[in-house]
Amino acid sequence: MDLDKVAASVIDAVRPYTMASPANLAATIRLAVEAIEAGRDGDFAECGTWRGGASFAMLLAQRLRYGRIVKPVWMFDSFQGLPPPDERDGPLALKYRRETGAPDYYNNCTASHAEVATAARDFGFTAGEAIVVPGWFEQSLPAHKDALAARGLAVLRIDCDWYEPVAYVLRELTPLVPDEGTIILDDYYAWDGCARATHDFLARNGLTWRIRSMEKFHGAWMIKRPYRSGPV
Ligand SMILES: C[S@@+](CC[C@H](N)C(=O)[O-])C[C@H]1O[C@@H](n2cnc3c(N)ncnc32)[C@H](O)[C@@H]1O
Repeated sequence: MDLDKVAASVIDAVRPYTMASPANLAATIRLAVEAIEAGRDGDFAECGTWRGGASFAMLLAQRLRYGRIVKPVWMFDSFQGLPPPDERDGPLALKYRRETGAPDYYNNCTASHAEVATAARDFGFTAGEAIVVPGWFEQSLPAHKDALAARGLAVLRIDCDWYEPVAYVLRELTPLVPDEGTIILDDYYAWDGCARATHDFLARNGLTWRIRSMEKFHGAWMIKRPYRSGPV
C-alpha cells in the first residue's frame, strides 16, 4: 500500500493509544518503513511507550505495507509513569510535575501494562512481534541487552521526556544501532531535558551527528554514524 495511505490508516487506528501528534506518527512510520526498505539490520524499539500507540504504529504500518511483520518492536516502559524531573529538565518540566490537574498531566504519564498487552493482542500482534517489557529502563535494558545486541536496533524511538532516562537510553542503546540506523528523539523540541541529554551525549562522544526536525518541530531524529572512538 502507498505510504500516505498507510500513514493515514495507521494514525487513525492508534489514536486512542498515543499522545504523539499525527505529524510525529507520520514521521515515525516513514522512518520505520525507510529502515526496512533500506535493508537495515535490527529490530525496532521504543523506550517510553505509555499506551503503546507509536509502537503499534510501527507494527501496523508493516502489516499494511508488506502483509506481515518484518521487524518486531521492543516496547519498554515502567508502566509506573515518569520518574521525577530534576533541574536539568528545566522550569517547564518542574511545572508539569507540580500541576497534577493539567489536561496534559495524564496521571504522570502512567499506563497500565495489562491494558497495553491486551491492546497488542487485540491488534493481532504476537508476543514476539510486540515485545512488551515492563520495568524501569535501568533494570529492563540490562536484562535484555544480550538479545538486543544480537539483533541490533534499526530504529530506536526515544520517548521518555526527562534528562536522566533519555541520557541512559542514548548511552546504553545507541551502540546497538547500526551505522545509518535511526534514533528518534520524540521530546527534543518539547522538553529541555531531552535536548540537553542529546547534546551532552553527542558532545561527550565527540559526535557531529545532525539533528533532523520533523514537520513543524513535532519531534526530531538523528542518523547513527560511526563513533570517532569507543562510546562513553
Ligand atoms: C510521554 S510518555 C510516552 C508516550 C508514548 N510514546 C506515546 O506514543 O504516546 C513517556 C513514557 O516514558 C516512560 N518512562 C520515562 N522514564 C522511564 C524509565 N526510566 N524507565 C521506564 N519508563 C520510563 C513513562 O512511564 C511514560 O509512559
